[in-house]
Amino acid sequence: MRYTRAVTTARFRRPAPAPRAQARPLHAQEMFGARAMRRIVRALPPIESAYAAIRFTIMRSKLLSVMDLLLPAEGRILDVGCGFGLFAAYFAQTQPQRRLTGIDTNARRIDIARSVMAKLELTGHELLVGDARAVRDIAGAGFQAIYVLDVLHHVPRDDQEALLACLYDLLEPGGVLVLKDITTEPWIGLKFTELLDRVMVGWDEPLAYRHHREWGEMLSSLGFHVRMVRVPDVLPYPHVVIAATKQ
Ligand SMILES: C[S@@+](CC[C@H](N)C(=O)[O-])C[C@H]1O[C@@H](n2cnc3c(N)ncnc32)[C@H](O)[C@@H]1O
Repeated sequence: MRYTRAVTTARFRRPAPAPRAQARPLHAQEMFGARAMRRIVRALPPIESAYAAIRFTIMRSKLLSVMDLLLPAEGRILDVGCGFGLFAAYFAQTQPQRRLTGIDTNARRIDIARSVMAKLELTGHELLVGDARAVRDIAGAGFQAIYVLDVLHHVPRDDQEALLACLYDLLEPGGVLVLKDITTEPWIGLKFTELLDRVMVGWDEPLAYRHHREWGEMLSSLGFHVRMVRVPDVLPYPHVVIAATKQ
């Protein structure tokens, strides 16, 4: 009898208050950015739109998500060699508090990048024509993060270290430089990538790939703390993502 009453009392005891709901629920729906990518592809003229669809197939949401998580959710972020601004428009959408500065030597690409940002109503970002090494003169320094997406192997071998040194100076202390490039192994992966790069740029432009270990050593010697991951793909691209933090 006593036992029954005890059970009954426990059952009708006022339940403990539920933990307070989080003010901003955690969600990951944009983590894979499919909607952001679709909007960018639609905002471009036909040929560039086809190019963007291919770029997003090569870059894959998995790779972009790795980079998205390495970049801060707010602050000034520099996109070196931004081209048509595909990834500036992508990272601006996934975290709207970011302020993107894209720079490219190709004025036509910058024009298109500006129109994509305008069509998608992404404001507060700047897209500049110029050499990345001249960013300080055009846009000032003090970036929280910089990313360089498949650009370094298009920079002449002898200029690569000077460019990275310049990017080091543009970063705030503690800022991160995110590099996505192609490493040189396996050999078959490198040759596959080189063939496709040649289709895009022709035979005259120098292509200067390096092994990820070489990039790591160069960045460490410049004063960065370096971490890196290789990101396997169904296509044989030997992708590598490097996060280099200014200490
Ligand atoms: C292969 S495209 C990559 C474009 C873009 N990052 C992407 O992933 O779609 C390389 C871009 O880097 C630009 N570029 C090369 N060297 C540069 C430099 N020193 N400063 C600024 N842009 C540069 C080229 O004009 C070109 O648009």
